[in-house]
Amino acid sequence: MQAVSSTLSGNIRVILIDNPPVNATSQAVRAGLLQAMEQAGADGTTQAIVIACAGATFVAGADIKEFGKPPVDPHLSDVIHAIESSDKPVVAAIHGSALGGGLELALGCHYRVVDAQARLGLPESTLGIIPGAGGIPRLLRLAGVEKALDMAAGGKPIDAVQALEAGVADALAQEDVRGAAMAYAQRLLEQGRGARRTRELPAPAAPATFDAARDRFRASHRGQLAPQACVDVAARSVSADFDAAVTYGRERFRELVASPQARALRHAFFAERVATKPAGLPMEEAKPVRKAGVVGAGTMGTGIAMCFLNAGIPVVLVEQNEKVLASSVETIGKTYRNDVAKGRITADTQRARGEALMPTLQYESLHDCDLVVEAVFEDMGVKQQVLASIEENLRPDALIATNTSFLDIDALAAGLRRPENVVGMHFFSPAHIMKLLENVRGKRSAPRALATAQALGKRLGKVAVMVGVSDGFVGNRMLARRTRECYFMLEEGALPEQVDRVLCEFGFPMGQFQLNDLAGLDVAWRNRQSRLDRLSEREVACNILDEIVAAGRLGQKTGAGFYTYDAQRRRSVDPAISELIVRNAERRGIARRVISDEEILERCLYSMINEGARILEEGVASRPEDIDTIWLNGYGFPRFRGGPMFHADQIGAARICERIRHYASHAGAQYWTPAPLLLAQARDGGAFHGR
Ligand code: 3HC
Ligand code: NAI
Repeated sequence: MQAVSSTLSGNIRVILIDNPPVNATSQAVRAGLLQAMEQAGADGTTQAIVIACAGATFVAGADIKEFGKPPVDPHLSDVIHAIESSDKPVVAAIHGSALGGGLELALGCHYRVVDAQARLGLPESTLGIIPGAGGIPRLLRLAGVEKALDMAAGGKPIDAVQALEAGVADALAQEDVRGAAMAYAQRLLEQGRGARRTRELPAPAAPATFDAARDRFRASHRGQLAPQACVDVAARSVSADFDAAVTYGRERFRELVASPQARALRHAFFAERVATKPAGLPMEEAKPVRKAGVVGAGTMGTGIAMCFLNAGIPVVLVEQNEKVLASSVETIGKTYRNDVAKGRITADTQRARGEALMPTLQYESLHDCDLVVEAVFEDMGVKQQVLASIEENLRPDALIATNTSFLDIDALAAGLRRPENVVGMHFFSPAHIMKLLENVRGKRSAPRALATAQALGKRLGKVAVMVGVSDGFVGNRMLARRTRECYFMLEEGALPEQVDRVLCEFGFPMGQFQLNDLAGLDVAWRNRQSRLDRLSEREVACNILDEIVAAGRLGQKTGAGFYTYDAQRRRSVDPAISELIVRNAERRGIARRVISDEEILERCLYSMINEGARILEEGVASRPEDIDTIWLNGYGFPRFRGGPMFHADQIGAARICERIRHYASHAGAQYWTPAPLLLAQARDGGAFHGR
C-alpha cells in the first residue's frame, strides 16, 4: 500500500494520503506528497489539485513516534511550501480531524472544503511543542491573532462551522467531502480563480504588545513553556516577514521537541492509549449495555446516573430514601437545565435524557438492566446486602459493578451466587465530570465482565484503567501515603499554606489541604475513624484533622476548614488554624522546626512513588503507564511532568532510594522503606518506563 497515491479525474488530480491509523505525516507521506505535487505540476492535463485522505480522518498531525529521533527529509514545512507554491489551485478535502501538522498542511493548500462534522486544531502545545511548519503565521493571516492564539497556545480545536466563520474553511460539505472538494475545484477553474496563497495575505492587525496574551496563557497553562512559545511566534509573525516567522517557529519547535516537558507530554499521550487497553481482555465478548441501573442516589449515584444519560443509556435509579431520590432527580434536572441555558445541549437532548431516567424505590425495576452500579454507603455489611438484592432481581447474565472506594471486592462478591458477574467500577467525584474510571478486577470476575466494564468506560467517555483489588486500589492508595506525610509535616513544623504552595508550584491544580477542604473534612474524618484500627500509633496520635472538625470546620461547604472561604469561595489563610496546629504540637511535646520546600516536595512525591512501585510489584497495576494515567486524569498530577512513575524515572531510582533512607533515619522504617522494585532499579540502573 502506498502512503500517497494520485489519480486524475478529468482535469483534477486527487492526491490521496493513506497512512493508517490517523494519516500522520510520517516520512513516507511527506516524501509522497512532494513527489505527487511535482508530478501534478509537470502534468499538462492537471488543472487543479485536491488533497484528501483515506480512512476515518484527514491528517491528524505529525507522527508523534518520530519525535525525539533525528529528523528525516523532507521537512513538513518544505512539503507545505511546495504545495502552497503550486500555480495550480490546491483544495484540501477535510474530514475527521485536521490537527497539528495536518491543519498546517491544509493551511498551505489554497482552499479548504470541510466536512460538517470535522474538527480543526493545533494541539501541539498539549504535547509541549508548537506548530513547527508555519501553522501560526498562516492561521493568523486567515483567522486573526486572537483566534490563532486560542487554537495554538490554548490548544482549543474548532468545529467546521467555527472554521467557516473564522475564514479557515471556504465551504462545508454535508457528505462526500472529497466529491465536494472536486466540485469546488471545478468551479474555481470555471471562474478562472487560481492559486490563493495564505502566506501572501497581509499580516492581520495585532496588539502593540503581546504581554496580555502572555499573562493570559501563563495563568491558564501554569508552568508550561509551549503556550508562551506560541505567543512568541505569533508576535514574530506580525512583526517579521512570513519566511522569517516560519524559520523562527521551526527553530522554537526544534528546541521544544527535545525539552523535558515535551518528553513528559508525549509520554502522557501514549501512556493513556496503553493504559486504556488492558492486555488479554476478550473485548469482542464485551456485553452491550442498553439499559443500566444505579443503586444509591447520593453524591456518586447521582453523578453516575448522569454518566449513563449523557451517553444515551437509559437508567433505573434505585434509592431507599424517597427524599434523597427526589433531590437526586432535582439535581440531575438542574444540571441539564443549566446545560441548555449555556448552550451545551439542546432542549430535545434535555427532554430525551429526562425520559431516559427512571427513579424508583423498587429493586424489582432493575430486572431488565444489563449492568447495575452499586453506589450505597461505604460499609461492607450494607453493600453485601444491597449486592444480594440486586442479584436477586437481575437476569443471570447481567453484571454488577460496585463503586466502592476502599472495600475488598472479593469479599463483597463472596456471598453472591454469581461472583463472576461482579467487577469494580470506581468513579471519581463529580462522576459526570471526572474523566478517570478505575475498573477493578476481582479474583473471580469473568473476563467477559471486565471487557464489558472497559468497553462501557470508553462509551461513557472515561479514561478507564484496569486495576486489581487493594486498599484504595491505585489512586487512593498512593494518595493515602501522601496525605499521611502531609499531616506529619504539619505537626513537625509546616503549615497548610506552605504544603499547598509547594504542590501548586510543582504543578498540581490544588494542594493537599485545599483538596481536603473541597472534598469535605467530615468525609476525610469519617474515613479516618473507619480505619483507626489499621493506623499506626503515630497516625492515631496525629489528630489535627479531628480538632479542626470538632471546631465545626468541615471545609468549603461550611466556609471554613484548613482555610476560610468567603461567599464566592475565595480562600484565605486563617491564623486560627496556624495557632491550632502550633498548640497541638506543643501539647503533644513535638518541637516544631523549619521544613524546607524541598523536603515537602520530596516527602509528598517519594511516598507516592514508593507506593506506586509496590503496587506494580503486587500486580495491582499492570504497567507504570496505568499509574501515570490514573494520576494524570484523576488527581491533577501535572501533565507536563508525565505522571508519578515517569517523574520518578527523571529523578532516578538511586536518588529516590537515598532520600527514602534519609527520611527513614528520622521517621523510622515503618514509614520509609524503599520498595524492592526501586532498590533493584537503583542497583541495576533500571527505570519504570522502558523496563
Ligand atoms: N502520531 C502517531 N500516532 C498517532 C498520532 C500521531 N499524531 N495520533 C494518533 N496516533 C495513534 C495512537 O497512538 C493510536 O495508536 P494505537 O492504536 O497503537 O494505540 C491510534 O493512532 C489511534 O489513536 P486514538 O486511539 O487516539 O484514536 P481516536 O480515534 O480516539 O482519536 C485522534 C484520533 C483525534 C486523531 C487522536 O489520536 C489525536 O488527538 N491524536 C493526536 C493529534 C495531535 O496531537 N496532533 C499533533 C501532532 S504534533 C504536530 O503535528 C507537529 C507539527 O506541527 C509539525
Ligand atoms: P452518599 O452517602 O452520598 O450516598 C449513598 C446513598 O446510598 C444514600 O443516598 C443512601 O440513602 C443510599 N442507600 C444506602 N443504602 C441503600 C439501599 N439499601 N438501597 C438503596 N439505596 C441505599 O455516598 P457517596 O459519597 O455517594 O458514596 C457512595 C459510594 O461511592 C461509597 O461506596 C463511596 O465510598 C463511593 N465513592 C465515593 C466518592 C466520593 O467522593 N463521595 C468517590 C468514589 C467512590
